[in-house]
Amino acid sequence: MGSIILGTGSCLPEREMSNHDLEKLVDTSDEWIVSRTGIETRRISGKGEETYILAATAAGNALEMAQLTADDIDLIIVASMSAHMIMPSCACFVQKELGAKKAFAYDINAACSGFLFALDNGDKYLRVEQNKKILVIGAETLSSRTNWQDRNTCILFGDGAGAVVLEYQEDTRGVVASELFSDGSLWNLLYMHNAPSYNPELEQPDYPGAHIMMEGREVFKYAVKAMEGAIRALLVRENIGIDSIDLMIPHQANIRILKKLVSRLGIDQEKVFINVQKYGNTSAASIPIALDEANREGKLTRGDLLLVCSFGGGFTWGASLLRW
Ligand code: UT7
Repeated sequence: MGSIILGTGSCLPEREMSNHDLEKLVDTSDEWIVSRTGIETRRISGKGEETYILAATAAGNALEMAQLTADDIDLIIVASMSAHMIMPSCACFVQKELGAKKAFAYDINAACSGFLFALDNGDKYLRVEQNKKILVIGAETLSSRTNWQDRNTCILFGDGAGAVVLEYQEDTRGVVASELFSDGSLWNLLYMHNAPSYNPELEQPDYPGAHIMMEGREVFKYAVKAMEGAIRALLVRENIGIDSIDLMIPHQANIRILKKLVSRLGIDQEKVFINVQKYGNTSAASIPIALDEANREGKLTRGDLLLVCSFGGGFTWGASLLRW
């Protein structure tokens, strides 16, 4: 019994930005970026490719695969930290774009772990409201939240969106279990400014801009340790070994993080889906984009056990198991 994925979809902006393009902006090189991150290109949104447009297009593709229409959808959850506006939510804009009139809609912000947290939210909702169909989306345009003069961060991120349609069925397939974590005491290792949440003198807000700030080395170390811990906890809880996993789809942050994680877990490299070279780190969108690519490339067979894991600002992290 579980929340089954009926369809997947994704949407990437047209414009591709290579490492050589970045060499013209900051003191970096293609060689440095490839060897330290595995990233070769990323996509950058233009006007008409706002976060909610990417999200709605990805959702439309997932609905098409599921052979459903927007009228069938009861709930839309969008995971994002780069919504077009703070209010209304990205999910409400997606609802408008799709014309999903009966759906209610809200956003989740758990940074790069947003999709996993949203999937867990959607799964728990469907276990109570069993006759509903929902959209869970991860969508980001981090190019709009990047300091393009900071070589420590601007080389990492990219834009895009991915979506799944979920329905609860009396079946052994679907979301099996999740282990999710947060540690807010480590917030200052990876964060993005907003206008301060106080203004006692009632002045015009003056803040350093909504840019990602990061202690890369610290984030790197914690990411490997935290994702390994979440995965091991999940495997123990479900009483299975790593060899039972058919495909692992990790958050696509950095090839070195993934290689370290893979070697610590002892999972066969062949079972790990990687596309970070094409899109960089698309935060909450990275897992649903990868899931859609894996699905459309025929890498998923009915009954496969799928492991997804993520790490992001907050800190937030976790792992989930899905029976395909
Ligand atoms: O979803 C989670 C989001 N965040 C992440 O996943 C980030 C996790 N961290 C990382 O991926 C890595 O820490 C980075 C890719 C950000 C950096 O790689 P690193 O191997 O940890 O490099 P570093 O920060 O230790 O820097 C090494 C050197 C420094 O120079 P010095 O001090 O040794 O002279 C940096 O100034 O590399 C320099 N450097 C660069 N050089 C060329 C930093 N950024 C660049 C750059 N190009 N873009």
